[in-house]
Amino acid sequence: MPYIPFNRPAIVGREFDYIRQAIDGMHISGDGLFTKKCNTLLEKLIGVPKVLLTTSCTHALEMAALLLDVRPGDEVIIPSFTFVSTVNAFVLFGARPVFIDIRPDTLNLDERQLEKHITPRTKAIVPVHYAGVGCEMDRILEVANKYGVSVVEDNAHGLFGEYKGKSLGTFGCLAAQSFHETKNITCGEGGALLINDAKYVERAEIIREKGTNRSRFFRGQVDKYTWVDVGSSYLPSDILAAFLYAQLEVREQIQAKRKQMWEYYNEHLQSWAEGYGVRLPVVPAYCEHPYHMFYIVLPTLEQRQAMIGYLNKCGINSVFHYLPLHLSAMGRRFGGRKGDCPVTEYVSDRLLRLPFYNNLKETDQEYIVEKICSYLVGERK
Ligand SMILES: Cc1ncc(COP(=O)(O)O)c(C=O)c1O
Repeated sequence: MPYIPFNRPAIVGREFDYIRQAIDGMHISGDGLFTKKCNTLLEKLIGVPKVLLTTSCTHALEMAALLLDVRPGDEVIIPSFTFVSTVNAFVLFGARPVFIDIRPDTLNLDERQLEKHITPRTKAIVPVHYAGVGCEMDRILEVANKYGVSVVEDNAHGLFGEYKGKSLGTFGCLAAQSFHETKNITCGEGGALLINDAKYVERAEIIREKGTNRSRFFRGQVDKYTWVDVGSSYLPSDILAAFLYAQLEVREQIQAKRKQMWEYYNEHLQSWAEGYGVRLPVVPAYCEHPYHMFYIVLPTLEQRQAMIGYLNKCGINSVFHYLPLHLSAMGRRFGGRKGDCPVTEYVSDRLLRLPFYNNLKETDQEYIVEKICSYLVGERK
């Protein structure tokens, strides 16, 4: 019996060559040759004026909170169905999270509920492009502009995704990418801050460099560098950037493979899913998604748990996420109660992610599909 993990990192290009080059070039700390190459390439590919590689998406979000000057008492509107970093990055600086439910189709922040959550204390809205499928940015920006609220996109899943022909990560004043091991393009742990509003660039460089003007010093703009603001160490080693650049170089090959895998699941699970009332991902026609993950939504929690057990017995590792943030120990401290975000609560109990990684073998995917299609979820509809 095979063992098929949920995720598996892979060497896809010249990762080792470039790591060696970084070492031979005697610059393996931050902002070396490869960091700059990654920043420039991402700026070009996404169409963002300024990209700064960071140590993680979490850290890029923390930088966003610092740049927006988030303070105790500020409110930040965040979907309850997301990873903890989306919220923690803002709570760390004293913000109160205001959890909003998700749409039942795309599982993105429900923009129809946005306006009622705005108060005079609202500082930011943080849409998460779940699975890389764009949130309803037209409406989100309309509400944000009406009330003068900033938008920070959590685009951890959405590198190369588009909403109505425009790249995800270019809608908010700031956006955050992830290059964590589970992402399409990775360096193990890594991220990037995308800066669409030029007024944040100079301070972002300072915050990322421990509160110093070291970036200006390296460009010869000042003759010594010193402590000028708050900050932390948010820049990754050039060894990680070297790994990342190698992956970015073969992005077309990676994306083509993921598209093929995603379509294979989508096509071959269709009739099984219809038969048992299992829901497959919904992608609106005007969204180009980057094939980040493949999930299914089972009719009940019990059926989801039983399916995880069955797949495990077949040597297939499937996983679920996210636990509703408003019902977590921290979420409850902010007043979260059962029933606040019913769609989030429903989906969280039922969603299952299938193995999906760059070197998933075709025969393994066929095996996964075959095992799923021979599984009886419950009464056929
Ligand atoms: C929606 C979302 N935001 C943020 C993160 C945090 O990313 P990182 O691990 O790069 O900090 C993740 C992690 O997977 C995520 O799924």
